[in-house]
Amino acid sequence: MNRPQVLITRRIAPLVSPALWQQLEQQATLITNPTDAVWSPSTLQARAAPCHALISCITEKIDASLLAAAPYLAFIANVAVGYNNIDIAACQARGIQVSNTPNVLTEATADHAWALLLAAARRLTEADRFIRRGQWQPSQPWALDMFLGADIHHRTLGIYGMGRIGAAIAQRAQGFAMRVQYHNRQPSKHAPVGVEYVSREKLLAHSDFVVVAVPYTRESHHLLGHAEFLQMPRHAVLVNIARGGVIDDAALAHALQTQQIAAAGLDVFEGEPTINPDLVALENVVLTPHIGSATRTARQAMAELAIHNVLDWLAGQTPRTVVIH
Ligand code: DGY
Repeated sequence: MNRPQVLITRRIAPLVSPALWQQLEQQATLITNPTDAVWSPSTLQARAAPCHALISCITEKIDASLLAAAPYLAFIANVAVGYNNIDIAACQARGIQVSNTPNVLTEATADHAWALLLAAARRLTEADRFIRRGQWQPSQPWALDMFLGADIHHRTLGIYGMGRIGAAIAQRAQGFAMRVQYHNRQPSKHAPVGVEYVSREKLLAHSDFVVVAVPYTRESHHLLGHAEFLQMPRHAVLVNIARGGVIDDAALAHALQTQQIAAAGLDVFEGEPTINPDLVALENVVLTPHIGSATRTARQAMAELAIHNVLDWLAGQTPRTVVIH
């Protein structure tokens, strides 16, 4: 290979240490995206055409047509732990290596799951809107039954998907003296001591809070829909920090409208950044724009890990966090 060309689809330079960025610049010619706008598929294909490696984010769909337009592409470093934006089978067929950024975002994402859980259970955003709209007035003063929410302490947390992030969410529940149960396709090595493995039915029927933390795959598409919401108690609160497609958003909006479940905290959405307007119209939903890992340290660590993976690959070594190698 002549001097390798690396395409970086989104603005990551300001997040990483200047020394590391310089190291990458020394090893490869970088094609960057100074405006940080998400490129259209045709622009992405044109930019990727001469490149040997790609640093991508969840906003880039890396499918068979992109791979066909990028004949030299041999390595993809996704700046995310999830890689459902990449057609892994197509990469495998072409012998393209793929890496992701696990571990470094686990704690930040678990914190965010709890932020959503607490906000949804205690109606924080609803109460915040009430004040901002000027509704807290002498005519509508403090009252004993104002914004009554749900207890969190001593209740049952159900975690759907016990990977590293699920385990970090479970650990935090200790501070609230909660009983924690989880469901996975099989018992997980990540489950902290004292956390019970239960059937999917038990998880749904006997959890006061359900947090979804599964990877998004063909099997997990619409894992929760009408039938599942009917199995949950009416006071249940649902939190999704995984991927939007894991939940049928239309069914969720219906379940929330009809108070089949009490509330939801959602960081991810089917078809984001477009969101089902029925969800936006509801008071009993807390919405955040896919910011689960958005702390400065986590995002810096993710960007730097992706760069280290590219540097490892350029040096002919096994990248440190590979998905396929
Ligand atoms: C991930 O890492 O998969 C997040 O969803 C994006 O930060």
